[in-house]
Amino acid sequence: MLGGRRCLGLAAFVAALFLVADAGVTSRYRRKLEATADMPLDADVFRVPPGYNAPQQVHITLGDQDGTAMIVSWVTPNELGNSTVMYGGAPDKLELRAEGVHTRYDYFNYTSGFIHHCVLRNLKHSTKYYYAMGFGHTVRTFWFTTPPKPGPDVPYKFGLIGDLGQTFDSNITLSHYEQNGGDAVLYVGDLSYADNHPLHDNNRWDTWGRFAERSAAYQPWIWTAGNHELDFAPELGETTPFKPFAHRYPTPHRAAGSTEPFWYSVRLASAHVIVLASYSAYGKYTPQWAWLQAELRRVDRKVTPWLVVLMHSPWYNSNGYHYMEGETMRVQFERWLVDARADLVLAGHVHAYDRSRATRRSGRPASATPRSTSGTGRTPTTPGTATRTAQRSSPTASGSQTGTGCPRRTTTPTRDFFFFSFPTATILHLSLLLLRG
Ligand SMILES: *[C@@H]1O[C@H](CO)[C@@H](O)[C@H](O)[C@H]1NC(C)=O
Ligand SMILES: *[C@@H]1O[C@H](CO)[C@@H](O)[C@H](O)[C@H]1NC(C)=O
Ligand SMILES: *[C@@H]1O[C@H](CO)[C@@H](O)[C@H](O)[C@H]1NC(C)=O
Repeated sequence: MLGGRRCLGLAAFVAALFLVADAGVTSRYRRKLEATADMPLDADVFRVPPGYNAPQQVHITLGDQDGTAMIVSWVTPNELGNSTVMYGGAPDKLELRAEGVHTRYDYFNYTSGFIHHCVLRNLKHSTKYYYAMGFGHTVRTFWFTTPPKPGPDVPYKFGLIGDLGQTFDSNITLSHYEQNGGDAVLYVGDLSYADNHPLHDNNRWDTWGRFAERSAAYQPWIWTAGNHELDFAPELGETTPFKPFAHRYPTPHRAAGSTEPFWYSVRLASAHVIVLASYSAYGKYTPQWAWLQAELRRVDRKVTPWLVVLMHSPWYNSNGYHYMEGETMRVQFERWLVDARADLVLAGHVHAYDRSRATRRSGRPASATPRSTSGTGRTPTTPGTATRTAQRSSPTASGSQTGTGCPRRTTTPTRDFFFFSFPTATILHLSLLLLRG
């Protein structure tokens, strides 16, 4: 029964991709409407690591645009502790050393632990590094592999997750992602949903950090700010948008010429990834507007033939929920992305999977350009894969479909994540993990 349903969904999906047929619903699956419960504070995934002042919520973030720097972040709960990271090619040979900085913040009556950020620089490409922190109290050791040097035919496998949260389903989503093993996560916003708790209970930022550590300490997640990162609560006297998020999740925005951590870019293998901020100003003359205009000129398609754009709020959305919320940004930026021939525009927010067909067409067969996908941590998946080969040569890009101003779309409600990889400059493989129906 389950298997049959899954095959049906798979077949429908493949047909939709290859034939780029009429718009329609490609799956009969409907996710449950009721919200799933957050895992309780004493859940195993939230466990505080043993040892006095042990580093927790460890995660890594790309530290530059070319994969030769990594930001290591962690929290020490009891006292400041040591911000040094020791690292090297083997766990018992951590001969390199970097000094970090720390920060803290208050949120209403919550005071954060000591949040450390330490940048490891001059790393070699495609190299496994072990790293440790917590010296003087409890030392913990992790590892990561640096991305390959950017280039047109460099394979790399991206995971795509959004709206993860910390429900029981979030845990299943993360487990499925781990089992299927991407190299980095494009995270399209909404991390902890701490703001759903009374007083925006920032302890839920801590539990989320501990929950995500099992992946985010070992491979970079490319962060996008969603509405649940705003934590704007004047009723609590909290009027600085993104306060918890900005303290906890740095991005390499300066390396990308950006003045704020919420919009920036990275280059990973054959992809130039631009992260946009749905909840920061993007009108004409604003810093984000000016940055994106300059950034699109910096994209070098000879080095990174794939141009991928992330944002939280989708520009097209067939779901009633959040209808038209992305519209003003679409009006501002869509033409630029069409002209820049962006290959993929990925968004979160609606907790459903939507994709449009190619939104700009030439005389050649259009390849479907997934426009808006939303992972959600709210629904369990059963892995299955569909692989698609797209000819990059046709100028498919995001943008309104010629003639109608509104791209046709296909809808597949709620996938929790999918993978894509660019094995060469002209082939895109999409692997979709299908839902248990
Ligand atoms: C913050 O205030 C809430 C509501 O008054 C209370 O339940 C909670 O214990 C307080 N937390 C701290 C750390 O004081
Ligand atoms: C931090 O730990 C490193 C590595 O063990 C050590 O060399 C350094 O002296 C420590 N710093 C402080 C301030 O204790
Ligand atoms: C979360 O998933 C992991 C890995 O599958 C499992 O070991 C753990 O028990 C799960 N925890 C909860 C609270 O669901």
